[in-house]
Amino acid sequence: MPEPSESKLRVLIPRDKIHARIQEMGEQIHKDYPEGPIYMIGILKGSWIFLADLVRAIPRHVRVEFIGISSYGRGKTSSGEVRLTKDIDVSLEGMDIIVVEDIVDTGVTLTYLIHLLEQRKPRSIKVATLLDKPSRRLRPIQATYCGFTVPDEFVVGYGLDFAEDYRNLPEICVVE
Ligand code: IMP
Repeated sequence: MPEPSESKLRVLIPRDKIHARIQEMGEQIHKDYPEGPIYMIGILKGSWIFLADLVRAIPRHVRVEFIGISSYGRGKTSSGEVRLTKDIDVSLEGMDIIVVEDIVDTGVTLTYLIHLLEQRKPRSIKVATLLDKPSRRLRPIQATYCGFTVPDEFVVGYGLDFAEDYRNLPEICVVE
């Protein structure tokens, strides 16, 4: 696929591994929540492909919402400034929430979002992320459900972008 700005891509996690891992994560979530609906809140835009697969791997009643957070501009580094770009318009009071993220990098976005959601008085908040880049963490945050730990490299595919390109790659690739 390389084309946008002629970047070279190297496959880091192939699609069959991603699918198998998401299946395991869904089964684990199903075991951990014995009853009641779960609100899966996807962070736009990066989480949508992972979220679509994850909800189908959870054989129970789930509800899906999306929230928009922006912290990256068009480059590979965060602007460091987190903004709410789209809010949720349902009440989360007393609900079990799982925030679904594509990748936890510095942890700034999730820390901001969890603080925001806590004010809406849910029963519980957990985080499910497809990828974790712990080497770059600035906030002490850890996802309960994590697909893969990745090295400190910029990755794209499966919903993750580089300046809005590559989200539709079916595997996780490193931009070289
Ligand atoms: P954090 O606030 O630094 O944890 O950033 C989280 C957000 O940054 C993710 O939701 C992604 O949108 C973006 N991000 C961080 N690392 C990467 C990467 O390697 N590739 C693509 N997006 C990334």
